[in-house]
Amino acid sequence: MRPFDPTLDVEDPGWREHFHVPLFAPPQDFPDAPGSAYPEVAYFAGNSLGLKPRATREALLTEFDQWANWGVEGQLSGPRPWKDYHEALTEPTARLVGALPHEVVVMNSLTVNIHLLFATFYRPAGARTKVVMEDIVFPSDGYAVASQVAWHGLDPAEHVVRLRPRDGEDTLRTEDVVRTIRDLGDEVAVVFFSAVNYLTGEWLDMPAITAAGHEVGATVGWDLAHAAGNVPVSLHDWDVDFAAWCSYKYLNSGPGSLAGCFIHERHAKDTSLPRLAGWWGTRTETRFRMERDFDPPPTADAWQVSNPPIFAMAPVQVSLEIFDDVGMAVLRERSLRLTAYLRDLLHEVRADIGGRGLEVVTPAEPGRHGCQLSVRFTRDIHELAAILRDLDGVIADTRNPDIIRFAPVPLYSTYLDCWRAADALHRRLA
Ligand SMILES: Cc1ncc(COP(=O)(O)O)c(C=O)c1O
Repeated sequence: MRPFDPTLDVEDPGWREHFHVPLFAPPQDFPDAPGSAYPEVAYFAGNSLGLKPRATREALLTEFDQWANWGVEGQLSGPRPWKDYHEALTEPTARLVGALPHEVVVMNSLTVNIHLLFATFYRPAGARTKVVMEDIVFPSDGYAVASQVAWHGLDPAEHVVRLRPRDGEDTLRTEDVVRTIRDLGDEVAVVFFSAVNYLTGEWLDMPAITAAGHEVGATVGWDLAHAAGNVPVSLHDWDVDFAAWCSYKYLNSGPGSLAGCFIHERHAKDTSLPRLAGWWGTRTETRFRMERDFDPPPTADAWQVSNPPIFAMAPVQVSLEIFDDVGMAVLRERSLRLTAYLRDLLHEVRADIGGRGLEVVTPAEPGRHGCQLSVRFTRDIHELAAILRDLDGVIADTRNPDIIRFAPVPLYSTYLDCWRAADALHRRLA
């Protein structure tokens, strides 16, 4: 395997200085562990939990002070009243996912938002009852969709169509997704896929699948958990009906932080749509009048249910400022360079150890992946990942039965991180 070339990080440095990177502490009985040559871990788990921006602490302290100094008056007074707090997140969120500001809102958590969106957009009627989704899906999405179907008194086994890759293949082909949607025709109520698959890292062809859903008269929604902040998306222009995403992965907003929601303006403007309502979904002008009738604005804000947790929202704002400063287009370019470098190194490792032992399952075409590379190993993944973590200081997560996911996150990962991962695998698998 090639030696590390330090000029790579000098020439293409990223934005690591904005983040806290955990330090590497070798086990006490193994102080000379290979990872101890480096002060910090090589962090590849930003697809699970993004690292903490340095500015987040100050942002939270500001809100603690607002609470301390104003009490309930903080809703309407102080440097930044909480009543309209979420509105500052709207424009940067819209820029992040290619939406209009009135099409997005930050609220709740991801699975909760999926339920709220299905409450509006999954309305089975006559023969149009089916939800088409992928079979290799993050379990929460599977549970949410099945329970929505059952909620309408329908049998998920019959009314949820889950697509598998072809035999011997790891990822879905767009042509197969499109053909299934066309074959089912007017039986399809909702098409709902993960834009970037959590297990394989595959980025689906969102415009083609959205168009196919619309051709048969279905509503099309996307889970952007692994896409938001990872790949450039244009939800409005691609005519997506609805989408939801979390902000604790690539959006670095902290464990369990708030989720985002997109509702295309053709739906958002329709205030008569059915929804599961709460007081924060009424217009800001009337919200505190405590009136009997629900009075939604013609925007995605109308899907809000409860008043927002400010201490969860402050980190989202910090994160969105970083994305605004850097810009998704610039970030994506670095992402492609970094991920290509890691992929090349992994191929070198594989060649060096006899052409077996590991295989990258994430598609190689730039339009079909984000920064995550999912690697299949023939060796026990749990044991291997533990060694990488404890002795090499390489943090990557396992997904049963045989995948370890490596996400070089373009905001803070380095070429050295990628090289450390490949070097560790080279030593451990040789
Ligand atoms: C694709 C996908 N859907 C749903 C979830 C669950 O999210 P939450 O626990 O925020 O509802 C995750 C979490 O990682 C995910 O990756």
